[in-house]
Amino acid sequence: MASSTYPNYDILIIGSGAAGLMTALHLADYANIAILTKSRLKEGSTAYAQGGISAVLDKEDSLQSHIKDTLDAGAGLCHKKIVKKVVAEGKSCIDQLIQQGVKFSQTQDGKHYHLTREGGHSHRRVIHAADATGNAVETTLAEQVKQHPNITIYSHHLAIDLITKKTKQTQKTKQSKQCLGAYVFNNPQQKVFVIPAKFTILATGGASKVYLYTSNPDVSTGDGIAMAWRAGCRVANMEFIQFHPTCLYHPEARSFLISEAVRGEGGKLILPNGQRFMPRFDPRAELAPRDIVARAIDHEMKRLGIESVYLDISHESDRLIRTHFPTIYSRCLDFGMDITKEPIPVVPAAHYTCGGVMTDKHAKTDIKNLYAIGETAFTGLHGANRMASNSLLECLAFAKFASDNIKKNLDKVTSPSKLPIWDESQVTDSDEEVVVAHNWEELRRFMWDYVGIVRTNKRLARAKRRCDVLQQEIYEYYGHFRVSHDLLELRNLVTVADLIIQSALRRHHSVGLHYTLDDKGKKDPLYHQNTILLPNSL
Ligand code: FAD
Ligand code: SIN
Repeated sequence: MASSTYPNYDILIIGSGAAGLMTALHLADYANIAILTKSRLKEGSTAYAQGGISAVLDKEDSLQSHIKDTLDAGAGLCHKKIVKKVVAEGKSCIDQLIQQGVKFSQTQDGKHYHLTREGGHSHRRVIHAADATGNAVETTLAEQVKQHPNITIYSHHLAIDLITKKTKQTQKTKQSKQCLGAYVFNNPQQKVFVIPAKFTILATGGASKVYLYTSNPDVSTGDGIAMAWRAGCRVANMEFIQFHPTCLYHPEARSFLISEAVRGEGGKLILPNGQRFMPRFDPRAELAPRDIVARAIDHEMKRLGIESVYLDISHESDRLIRTHFPTIYSRCLDFGMDITKEPIPVVPAAHYTCGGVMTDKHAKTDIKNLYAIGETAFTGLHGANRMASNSLLECLAFAKFASDNIKKNLDKVTSPSKLPIWDESQVTDSDEEVVVAHNWEELRRFMWDYVGIVRTNKRLARAKRRCDVLQQEIYEYYGHFRVSHDLLELRNLVTVADLIIQSALRRHHSVGLHYTLDDKGKKDPLYHQNTILLPNSL
């Protein structure tokens, strides 16, 4: 009989975006590593990132300024020490990518890297590869991991749950559980395996697929957050879901982003009658932080009953548009729009999960030997609203911080043995797959309708009732039937939806990305605190 357990690894990395791949490359000379990814190796938000990576690279710019902008965008909820630590790491992260072969765009004279601007940044500090920065980063890192002899890649393998055991709680770490690896669904074989590992790293990205309209790829279903929560980790700030102001509005365009860099290079937001509206909402106009721009667009669309607003960059030269935005230019052309001549119809869509699995400055979670890096983590960097292009920076910086910490501890941990295999004795094949598809649709629609850009207590309570019913149904289904890829993702989505709603219900005033019409103007003592949810097991 074939074994139900894969080989033992020093490090199991779940996720192959910037966070997962960079961590693997930092550690590969010291340990044997498995990278698990539930789709193709290069599929994930990283590959679609457009604008770039923020870092202080210009003589006129300063670390202080990047720190201040990040804190301002975060609306008072960032952890200042973490902001300083990450911002200070910026240049070194970029140098590393350049060394690895990422080709960033240069100025016309070829003497410097071109830096663009995005919302909330008071300087040009976003380094980019035209408007396809993520693809350049992901492709370069993927090529390197494929060549490293100590790295094994398992594509189309979906981690289901973490395997943990109780451990003695020490005064210092407060961790009362230890992670030993994960149960993994091998999609091509439709079978569940155990992967034992000394260290496990969640690098599973965000959860924006919980909303009907999103800029994210299909893999962003919040799996790492749901797995960590079920295993007993604290989760924080889930109410702060970032809606990107400008996704292409076209019936055939699925999840296509129009980068904030278009506004950074002079793009103006206009109404169908050609009037600009952002100056009425904020003195920074189109370059105000994202929460403000998305809310202004939502407000204008509702006020005028229109289906989209427009982003116009056609007043800039053809050369600038085609050099800086070749991907956006050609994608829009596919849909019959020439952006050098006409404005682009745009709407907001769910884009980024600011909250996630709570970690410390080394990316360590509440469970021993379990780390969380990238969009799945809550490190304290983003506060109530992430500033543009700080996300890839966070992935890269924390890949380094976590790797340094793991290297120090590699020899102190023994390999787990005799882990319990997956028990399928109580389940049968599903006779009603349609339930899964219907629940996916229902969940994403009520999250969009009731837990979106503008919230009220009534809408949140309505969402909570629906979420409770779905949760019960999905858990029952999960308990009775053999697992499938869609069912596992749906189970995670409903968990994450519940965490978002619970967090939003606890915050009674508007701050950053959480905007409620029921804010009575009286700030309660929780105003400057993060929303921390404690799992049942704590
Ligand atoms: P991802 O890149 O999303 O990777 C997650 C990985 O985990 C994937 O490989 C996925 O398959 C895998 N995975 C998930 N669940 C499981 C599971 N259960 N089992 C196995 N594998 C699993 N940020 C910036 O800083 N600058 C930008 O210009 C920018 N532009 C963006 C444009 C778009 C369209 C989008 C969607 C996001 C953008 N962002 C940008 C945000 C940024 O791209 C992401 O936050 C960042 O790439 C997340 O990286 P990650 O490694 O954490 O996750
Ligand atoms: C964009 O290019 O607008 C996305 C940047 C980001 O999400 O940081």
